Amino acid sequence: MDARVRQGVFITLEGMDGCGKSTKGRMLAEELVSKGREVVSLRDPGGTGISERIRTILLDPEAADMAPECELMLFEAARAQLTCEVILPALERGAVVVCDRYYDSTFAYQAVGRGLDEDLVRRANKMGSCGLVPDRTIVFDLEVDESFERATRHGIDRMELDGEPFQARVRHGYLRLSTEEPDRVRVVDGHGEKVEVYARMRGELLDLLPELAEGAL
Ligand code: TYD
Repeated sequence: MDARVRQGVFITLEGMDGCGKSTKGRMLAEELVSKGREVVSLRDPGGTGISERIRTILLDPEAADMAPECELMLFEAARAQLTCEVILPALERGAVVVCDRYYDSTFAYQAVGRGLDEDLVRRANKMGSCGLVPDRTIVFDLEVDESFERATRHGIDRMELDGEPFQARVRHGYLRLSTEEPDRVRVVDGHGEKVEVYARMRGELLDLLPELAEGAL
């Protein structure tokens, strides 16, 4: 990746539905802004007009008969637009980009969860991310029953229709990624109070964001 792009820091947050990553992402953004950084908080799929429209199709429970191949390409399409339109320019400006999910979700959900060919998904991920690799990826880990209960408390989206066995495969996919790429992908125990989980997460980011070491929120 172009050296100018690397002026910023690209953090992605991952885990099963209901793992608590969105709350911790907000806490991180708040702390970094208070310390003077520009932060761009995003969700994938989403974050641009085109990507939000694709997101609506992807999560619609009425699209229950969507083919896994269609699903894969829609996630990649939404991500390519987000990457080109928002993430790359933000990194070039020197911002910290905090993205709720990115291509590791596609590996965990579409390859390990749905059973699509792993090499094909990895290649599709390269295209959807325009070759961009997160500087650090935090995977929030919880037992499947606990995260699934949290995720479905207020309704169910299309991805949650497959229930706990699917989520268990997704969890396994994430844990595999953390052993394949231990420098980038760090597993954080998602149990406990949100301040405790947040403290664990920030411990995994100190090398990239030394300003986090300067006092707690
Ligand atoms: P969302 O409501 O954002 O879930 P969460 O709050 O748990 O992040 O819905 C996104 C859903 O899409 C979630 O079930 C994960 C799934 N997903 C994939 O299957 N593949 C992907 O590449 C991405 C980015 C998300």
